[in-house]
Amino acid sequence: MDLERLLEKSQKRQWKVGDLDWSQKPRDLSPEDEMTIVQCFTDMAGIERLAGALFEAQRRSAEDPTIKELFRTFVVDEVRHAHAAQMLADHYDRRKLKHYSVNPSLRRFAPAFIGALEHFSPSVANAYTTGGEIMLDIALLRSINDFVDDGMSTDVMRLINQDESRHVAMDFHMVEYYCSDAWAEKAEALPAKTPAEEVQAWSAITKMMYFAQPFFQDVFFRPMQLVDPSGKRMQEAFKRMQLLSKKEEVARTPLARLMTSARELYKNPIARKTLGPVLTRLVGLDASAMDDLFTETEARSVQGKTFDELAQETLALKYQSSSASRGRAAA
Ligand SMILES: [Fe+2]
Ligand SMILES: [Fe+2]
Repeated sequence: MDLERLLEKSQKRQWKVGDLDWSQKPRDLSPEDEMTIVQCFTDMAGIERLAGALFEAQRRSAEDPTIKELFRTFVVDEVRHAHAAQMLADHYDRRKLKHYSVNPSLRRFAPAFIGALEHFSPSVANAYTTGGEIMLDIALLRSINDFVDDGMSTDVMRLINQDESRHVAMDFHMVEYYCSDAWAEKAEALPAKTPAEEVQAWSAITKMMYFAQPFFQDVFFRPMQLVDPSGKRMQEAFKRMQLLSKKEEVARTPLARLMTSARELYKNPIARKTLGPVLTRLVGLDASAMDDLFTETEARSVQGKTFDELAQETLALKYQSSSASRGRAAA
């Protein structure tokens, strides 16, 4: 991938929330839908800030000046997405039915997550970014936008999607880098943690994992049940993550091996019965992400594809029309 070109694009395609026409009148919404939508956008603002923190962690650890600068622009993008989401929340809060605040699980998870980020290897921070952006872009944002089904949200999402295309391309590029021999050599040469640092790291990561599942439940899975009741998009997002981890280079990494072992163990009925909640917590996801969602042919076909091709395939899913929006448009 041409990083210089990506950086040029990233600098050129910056936009401001003020570029949008916020005077548009929203379509009529029931009080229940209004509350759902305002809450979704309120939480989205918090999630976008977390995405910004992930890119900031990667910016700090990057050595290459182009990559460092790319991550800097991504942090700016995510902060802008957070502002735009908050403005959408205010835009749809027509009746002032209640006071909205960020979901408590997200509020608890955010500082624990940012604390743990300090102790992660950059490869782990990248894995979280990639997984998070796949879930956010393929599943959550697309489904929220279809559910809202209104011009203002669509205008904002169109601009956000342009930024996200660059982020996902970079996420996959970095996954490839962290699978390379160059990174393996570098990681080997890093100074070992002292016992005190190990203890600190494990306590930060344990704390984060404790808050991770309620966060995913309240901020991803529960809203997804409302805005994508078929569960189709969540499955698509999980499938893309599983396929990426099946790619030979990725499958060899310790994190992918850990996730795959947890999923393999989950297939065993006895282990599922006794360890099921622990295993799903380890993978950090919902039980529906534990089974294989791909076919053998699909798993084989990822081996012959480049990381950039896989990123483009993932991005293409974002633009597939959904039956939900078609249904509403026809109504
Ligand atoms: Fe974003
Ligand atoms: Fe992003």
